[in-house]
Amino acid sequence: MGPRILFSAPEAQWPLWRPHLIAAFAAAGIEPALTDDPAGPWTFDYIVYQPGGPVTDFTPFTRLKAVLSLWAGVEGIAPNPTLTAPLCRMVDPGLTRGMVEWVAAHVLRYHLGLDAFLFGQDGVWRHGEAPPLAPARTVTVLGLGELGRAVALSLLALGFDVQGWSRRRREVPGVRSFAGDDGLADALARTEILVTLLPATPETENLLDARRLALLPEGARLVNPGRGGLIDDAALLAALDSGRLAHATLDVFRQEPLPPGHPFWAHPRVTVTPHVAAETRPETAADTIAENVRRGEAGLPFLHVVDRTAGY
Ligand SMILES: NC(=O)c1ccc[n+]([C@@H]2O[C@H](COP(=O)([O-])OP(=O)(O)OC[C@H]3O[C@@H](n4cnc5c(N)ncnc54)[C@H](OP(=O)(O)O)[C@@H]3O)[C@@H](O)[C@H]2O)c1
Repeated sequence: MGPRILFSAPEAQWPLWRPHLIAAFAAAGIEPALTDDPAGPWTFDYIVYQPGGPVTDFTPFTRLKAVLSLWAGVEGIAPNPTLTAPLCRMVDPGLTRGMVEWVAAHVLRYHLGLDAFLFGQDGVWRHGEAPPLAPARTVTVLGLGELGRAVALSLLALGFDVQGWSRRRREVPGVRSFAGDDGLADALARTEILVTLLPATPETENLLDARRLALLPEGARLVNPGRGGLIDDAALLAALDSGRLAHATLDVFRQEPLPPGHPFWAHPRVTVTPHVAAETRPETAADTIAENVRRGEAGLPFLHVVDRTAGY
């Protein structure tokens, strides 16, 4: 019998993933016993996991070789004390491409001042000054991991002056990279458009507080597809109210769905998108799952293993 694999995710996900997982396992030469029934008669070797499914306590699964997350962000599972097997996060070319497209769109919206045309059409022909070209615009990406790095490189390809910041300083060709608290202060001080692609961990909680937001130049813009907890909401609203921060596009929130009465919804300087920046795509992501199972079965190290101490 091949490896025994449990798919634990919200019910609607199973029919979307099943055919792609079966095809990916076949392509990897694996014949698994695959089910979405946690009571299945087997002792499972792997759990393919997304929050909101039947498994919350991993204690009964005593033979697990790994838990394979369908999401890149693992703050919902990494702190789970019942999980002792290795946890692998999702890295998916489809997810990455989605994030690159979403960030490019919102950065270009700010860069080109598109709102003036989209929302200001009033019969008056205003042929103002041309906006600066991309090389004159500094965009900073916080987080230079799988997504941040791809986003930074795509912004670089569009011509922007790109900076990046991460826990350990990362070399990304063409990108000015920073690390540490002083590095963050230096990066923020030169930023016109800030993109936050950090994971939610105890260390990144409220990273962008009033003090750090005040380091941004007057009129800076913020694009947050990372996690809601990265930003102190009250400090952000204060910075937007005062006009110091010109605008924010927020895809992720401390509470999702964002409650109807939340001030972000009606704020004239905020665009809310409902956690749509990038989704894991079963048609490409199933290969990542299959590859890790192949590795597990061959005794090779897993890919994309979460550092449970760092939380990502
Ligand atoms: N909105 C959406 O639709 C959506 C979709 C997918 C993912 N996301 C979010 O995007 C996040 C990033 O995903 P990813 O795949 O790029 O993650 P990743 O590959 O793990 O990269 C994380 C990056 O953040 C840096 N980092 C972590 N903690 C830090 C700290 N305390 N200080 C400074 N830098 C820190 C890491 O630094 P090192 O390089 O030094 O490790 C790394 O560069 C996910 O965690 C998730 O929250 C959102």
